[in-house]
Amino acid sequence: MKTAELHTQSREQTILLAAHFAQLLKGGEIVFLRGPIGAGKTVFVKGVAAALGLTGSPTSASFSLLKEYRSKTMRLFHIDLFRLEEGEVFNLGFEEMLEDEHAIILAEWPDPIARMLPADRLEINFVLEEGDERTLELSSFGSVSDRLLEELCKAV
Ligand SMILES: Nc1ncnc2c1ncn2[C@@H]1O[C@H](COP(=O)(O)OP(=O)(O)OP(=O)(O)O)[C@@H](O)[C@H]1O
Ligand SMILES: [Mg+2]
Repeated sequence: MKTAELHTQSREQTILLAAHFAQLLKGGEIVFLRGPIGAGKTVFVKGVAAALGLTGSPTSASFSLLKEYRSKTMRLFHIDLFRLEEGEVFNLGFEEMLEDEHAIILAEWPDPIARMLPADRLEINFVLEEGDERTLELSSFGSVSDRLLEELCKAV
């Protein structure tokens, strides 16, 4: 396990950070995004998808828990399980995602699905500071995410 801390002063800086992070992704990475409502988790995910040039499926009620972004070569799943319980995540379409070991998974409020995912994951805990500042507390669990954490810290 490795840990690090990064800071962003604005929404735009978080999007830039997400773009740096996106360049490190090869496929198969898992990221848990933690932190309170309005902390910037979704801003980060959209920044990653945009930097990779991925197109999202149209938003509808059923896509609020699981949204797929893709290009010809990459697949990214954005999960948001706010207020869901572990027993409620079956039959929501996660099975297909779990079968694709090359998919990138970015999960907000990930606890209900955490035990269904491989253990190697990067966790980013968004901490609200004064005004628009956010601290991003990074923790990696496994060799893939250790590399991601180290390379992200070098890139920014
Ligand atoms: N440094 C920052 N990084 C990211 N967003 C910021 C920052 N400063 C201000 N913001 C604003 O904070 C809000 C973050 O919203 P976002 O939807 O990303 O939160 P979230 O963590 O996904 O919350 P939720 O748990 O409700 O999904 C946006 O309105 C954004 O403009
Ligand atoms: Mg969100």
